[in-house]
Amino acid sequence: MPQVIPDTSRLLEGLNEAALIARGRRVIASNSAAKALLGDGIDGDGLEQVISHPAAIEALDRIGSADMEEVELAGLGGSRRHWLMRSAPLADGTYLIRFVDRSEVAAAEQMRVDFVANASHELRTPLSTLIGYTETLREQGDEIDGDTRERFLSVVHDEARRMQRIVEDLISLSRIEAEKFTAPTEAVNLAPLIEQALGGAQRIADERGSTLVREVDPELPPIAADRGQILQLLDNLITNALRYGEPGTPVTVAAHAEGSMVHLAVADQGEGIAPEHVKRVTERFYRVDTSRSRSLGGTGLGLSIVKHIVERHRGRLVIDSELERGTTVHVLLPVS
Ligand SMILES: Nc1ncnc2c1ncn2[C@@H]1O[C@H](COP(=O)(O)OP(=O)(O)O)[C@@H](O)[C@H]1O
Ligand SMILES: [Mg+2]
Repeated sequence: MPQVIPDTSRLLEGLNEAALIARGRRVIASNSAAKALLGDGIDGDGLEQVISHPAAIEALDRIGSADMEEVELAGLGGSRRHWLMRSAPLADGTYLIRFVDRSEVAAAEQMRVDFVANASHELRTPLSTLIGYTETLREQGDEIDGDTRERFLSVVHDEARRMQRIVEDLISLSRIEAEKFTAPTEAVNLAPLIEQALGGAQRIADERGSTLVREVDPELPPIAADRGQILQLLDNLITNALRYGEPGTPVTVAAHAEGSMVHLAVADQGEGIAPEHVKRVTERFYRVDTSRSRSLGGTGLGLSIVKHIVERHRGRLVIDSELERGTTVHVLLPVS
């Protein structure tokens, strides 16, 4: 029987990851993904030059042996890239080296680590205030006059409330995330939910001298939704529009059908968000001005909650904002 000699380069191209074949310490063939990662002219070069990463160079002695462990290459081909290098012996002293792209997994893991750190930090600040004020009240209670005591107690109360809001938002986020693979199916009429959310926001609107304007199509078809989550989404968007809108200017909530989606838009006339921040405001705890958000009672989690609700509903979120003009948040939700 004739021996089948596979066309090495076609075989390498057939792998959907960066891969090369080496003999000794030299590259003898590579696919285009490997060339994109390591450089165009790598065929014929030494492995030390080609994979110039300390962890890889350290592992080269073991490379090609059947039991080489996987080697993590953080930062190869870009500071945010992350690869797993694997090798397997082939015939005649050659071996195959593959690079599995783990950048997304590494980024997700980094986000998780950052999130825990940020959440702890957000809770530690009010907690320190609570401990400081209660200690003072306890140790110097006799010397503190009634007015000061009241002031201290209201600080303690406000900080405890802030912690409560953060914890409630964190619980919301994790609930929404836990359900992200099950799209809501209930047929929900948006118009009454908009009314309910606007009713809840009326007090803040009055305080800020803002009018709440509705432009809701009376023929709006029902959406496939989770009622509680849509109310939460509306609350967050309307509260933001009131908080960050210019006092005395209107906040508009509009909704109309658009093909198989319902288009909801919440618009304010306010300071707007600069383009470099727009990309990031849906990240957990990201704020343009942290102390301002805190003083307005924000947790920095509202838009992140909104984003997760929209994702769970298989919808779309677009934040359209112009500095000094205002912000419109568009949400597309599928019709039931
Ligand atoms: N309508 C808006 N206009 C201007 N800035 C906004 C608006 N909505 C959100 N932002 C900015 O995005 C940040 C994140 O919003 P959010 O997640 O709701 O957190 P929070 O309101 O608790 O600070 C806010 O701190 C603010 O800087
Ligand atoms: Mg908010």
